[in-house]
Amino acid sequence: MLDAAAAWAAGKDSIAVVDLACGLGSTLRSVSGRLPRRQSWRLVDNDLSLLARAADLARPPDLSVMPIPVDLARDLEAALDGPVDLITTSALLDLVSHDWLDRLVTETAARRLPIYAALSYDGLATLDPVDPMDSAVIDAVNVASARRQGFWAGAWAGSGCRRAGPF
Ligand SMILES: C[S@@+](CC[C@H](N)C(=O)[O-])C[C@H]1O[C@@H](n2cnc3c(N)ncnc32)[C@H](O)[C@@H]1O
Repeated sequence: MLDAAAAWAAGKDSIAVVDLACGLGSTLRSVSGRLPRRQSWRLVDNDLSLLARAADLARPPDLSVMPIPVDLARDLEAALDGPVDLITTSALLDLVSHDWLDRLVTETAARRLPIYAALSYDGLATLDPVDPMDSAVIDAVNVASARRQGFWAGAWAGSGCRRAGPF
């Protein structure tokens, strides 16, 4: 995914990125080194303290960061308004509802924008090599994921995803 995003961006003079649900800025940290030198990032989250910390990250002079407090469940469209070349997100899509995902696809397609989405987990996990603790660890991860997804109105409910966990 990252190779594909980097190849798409290669040759551009500058790039404007909107990172949805930025958290502490891990996507900026992992992706920015693969993009053109001049970058502007709009970091979007509804957690003000995470936004403040993400905006404080050390960064090169050609990279600007603007934290934007937005409730993405309600105002996704507003988060995408303004100049943007690339949408990024990480560890988000497994938390959202089908309806919200449809909105994201519709808005992205309407703007003809590429999207880089990393770290999506559908509840299925296999570990290699096998360890006797595997199922306990996977169950704990799935219980934690199920708790978080409730905030976004049940991404997996009726999704048809097979789950390795207990729910
Ligand atoms: C699992 S974290 C991922 C953070 C980051 N993208 C990463 O990969 O580390 C999910 C993020 O979604 C944000 N979030 C949850 N609900 C949100 C909402 N309604 N609007 C905006 N952000 C939200 C949380 O504050 C959190 O930063």
